[in-house]
Amino acid sequence: MNLATTPAWASLARHAEALQERHLRDLFAADAERFTRFSLHEEGFLLDYSKQRITAEIMASLHQLWHAASVPGWIARMRNGEPINHTENRAVLHCALREPNPRPEVVAALARMERFCNDIHHGRWRGASGETIRHIVNIGIGGSDLGPRMATLALAAHRLPGVDVRYVSNLDAAHLAAVLAEIDPARTLFIIASKTFSTQETMQNAASARAWLTAALGEAAVARHFVAVSTNLAAVAAFGIDPAHTFEFWDWVGGRFSLWSAIGLPLALAIGMDKFKRLLAGAAAMDAHFFDTPVERNLPAILALIELWNTDFLGAETRALLPYSQSLELLPRYLQQLEMESNGKRVDRAGQAVPCPTAPILWGEAGTNGQHAFYQLLHQGGRLIPCEFIALIEPDFTLPGHHEKLLAHCFAQSEALMRGKTLAEATAELVAAASPAPTFLAPYKVFPGNQPSTTLLLPRLDPYTLGQLVALYEHKVFTLGALWNLNSFDQWGVEYGKQLASRLLPMLEGCAPVAGLDSSTAGLIAACRDSA
Ligand code: F6P
Repeated sequence: MNLATTPAWASLARHAEALQERHLRDLFAADAERFTRFSLHEEGFLLDYSKQRITAEIMASLHQLWHAASVPGWIARMRNGEPINHTENRAVLHCALREPNPRPEVVAALARMERFCNDIHHGRWRGASGETIRHIVNIGIGGSDLGPRMATLALAAHRLPGVDVRYVSNLDAAHLAAVLAEIDPARTLFIIASKTFSTQETMQNAASARAWLTAALGEAAVARHFVAVSTNLAAVAAFGIDPAHTFEFWDWVGGRFSLWSAIGLPLALAIGMDKFKRLLAGAAAMDAHFFDTPVERNLPAILALIELWNTDFLGAETRALLPYSQSLELLPRYLQQLEMESNGKRVDRAGQAVPCPTAPILWGEAGTNGQHAFYQLLHQGGRLIPCEFIALIEPDFTLPGHHEKLLAHCFAQSEALMRGKTLAEATAELVAAASPAPTFLAPYKVFPGNQPSTTLLLPRLDPYTLGQLVALYEHKVFTLGALWNLNSFDQWGVEYGKQLASRLLPMLEGCAPVAGLDSSTAGLIAACRDSA
């Protein structure tokens, strides 16, 4: 379905044209009920999208797109296990991992995880020299790293004492070396997490970790210090990890949707299996909301439709994700993979060009740090950058004096972005402050405003609400994929670089002549080889 040919699309194009003349501050002034009209209280979350550049007519047309694109039909196909990842001929069933009554293989996998976590926590699983495990090092990248890493930080207030969980992803040896320098091999367990068990970064880091461990404890120690999480059991066995110590998941779980599977093992070790199950329960609650709630009150649907509006009608090229929570510091990085690897595509399900821009560039930083870095550009840089604020009503860490100030900053930013400050207001302020040069300074103190934002308020940050939050974004991604008629579940765009890197490696190693390359690439290789 090409949405751009629908009446709703044409109507949205007309609204976008008319909206150019209207400032957000005027929309607020004209409607005292704007917050009530454009906010949702669902599932304990408050989604305030009243500071978006929308009207009731625009929202009505956006709701029509949801139906025109048959999003409910796509949801049904996903839930029925149809191979909606059509370029890889795979079903998309990450929601099956968190169903209240999961399928038998999921029940069995969760039970194995639970046994393993208990064995580690109660000191029944010991290292080769008989010591209990203190350090857990997850070696993985992309979907085999970002989800559990983000969640381990997000749930810092819920971590079990005595378990030190770390993550190594980068091929740069600096990453692994920094971790190895701080841990004791006798008390370390490595989790090698890779869906395919062939990703070069992970395989190299796993080999180096193994060499480090066996140098200290001997070859036989591998069995007590390495476990794996993968769909590729043969490759795990070939690496030398006991199949009994391998946690399986399935090709119907996409890498960036795999937090809920055994890929979540390091998180489960950090917080305990009971809390991991609360994470699953939170995600399941958001699934039920997404599947059963009409578009008008559907949280993921509204987030998706607003992103489509900002991207395809207002021309926004990026979106800033601004969690006012240090614990959610890694959420922007996690969502970069979830959103941009899923929907950063220009070809639709039929192999044709998508007729409009797709996923915007997602970037962001925890508030208030971002305020002292890039907010200047948000306020006065002159670009349209929709912002998404996330804040907690109840803090996860309590020190007197912090939380109200944090919230005051968060709400002040969205107010300032929306309202702006006119030249007359800036001049009046300067005059009132007895400035010696009000006319000179006033232009520098003008804020155009009209910068759209959404604020998502969570009651608190705990395993359940984090599960809800992550599932909310997963379903937002799904909805946008359906609206743009994309396959959100493949990632061909990451393959080409890998292919070229394997051609360049022998040249860098000096095993192959530097030939058949453009002059830039050849010059860079020559510079490294000359200094080697
Ligand atoms: O970046 C490409 C990608 O395939 C991601 O989709 C995936 O999450 C990551 O690599 C890691 O893959 P694997 O878990 O197979 O090592």
